[in-house]
Amino acid sequence: MSDARATPGDRGRGPARERAASPVAGTSVSLRTVSEGDLQRLYEIHENVANRGPYFPHRFVSEPVFRRRFQETGFWGEKYGRLLILDRDGEIVGHVEFFETVAYLDELELSYQIYSDAHRGKGYASEAVTLLTRYLFQNLKYNRVRLIIHPDNEASKRVATKCGYRHEGTLRGAWFHEDETTTSMSSAPYEKCSSRTGMPPRVSRERPRHLR
Ligand SMILES: CC(C)(COP(=O)(O)OP(=O)(O)OC[C@H]1O[C@@H](n2cnc3c(N)ncnc32)[C@H](O)[C@@H]1OP(=O)(O)O)[C@@H](O)C(=O)NCCC(=O)NCCS
Repeated sequence: MSDARATPGDRGRGPARERAASPVAGTSVSLRTVSEGDLQRLYEIHENVANRGPYFPHRFVSEPVFRRRFQETGFWGEKYGRLLILDRDGEIVGHVEFFETVAYLDELELSYQIYSDAHRGKGYASEAVTLLTRYLFQNLKYNRVRLIIHPDNEASKRVATKCGYRHEGTLRGAWFHEDETTTSMSSAPYEKCSSRTGMPPRVSRERPRHLR
């Protein structure tokens, strides 16, 4: 796939078929766009907000809105995209999304979730974030990709670190969480924004291995 506007294809199912058809493939996981047949299961997961854990927004939309958004965009465009994370057997284990942040910034943000405890701790999120980060920098004209992570979300902070993101700052009160506004942490790979803006890099300009 060479263009983020590519639309989801009509794919057969089964592990070999899933992997062969995946536009972005890694070692342990591959990523693919959402198909119509995924929607029922994905909406059930979307509605199960408890499964997102305590450090991920619990907002949700109704099923008609969820389906209408899919019909309009296929969940894949230049400013928003959702890719399913598949394990080696072709099983859907989670998703990773990107979206534009502030309209005047050349920046995207990533969001990710692994759906069950059984699939967590196997490196799936780290590989998926690495793959999507690389895909976005290689194919779209954005300077920055950021992650916003609750400071207590240790697993997600570890994912960020493993993927070459660096702590950039704290947005105080940025996210209303449970009964209070809490701080959030933003991470961005400096080497990408530094090269375009001339800002002094705080870390080595050498690109992380996964982005070379
Ligand atoms: C965060 C999440 C996506 C991580 O997915 P995952 O596939 O388990 O992530 P990975 O296996 O790639 O990496 C997790 C790392 O965090 C570590 N980790 C997990 N829980 C941890 C904890 N409580 N404290 C410290 N490290 C922790 C793991 O050991 C692993 O590091 P390692 O590879 O060095 O051992 C998953 O837990 C999830 O879906 N959480 C709910 C949604 C969410 O919070 N999404 C992120 C929003 S910013």
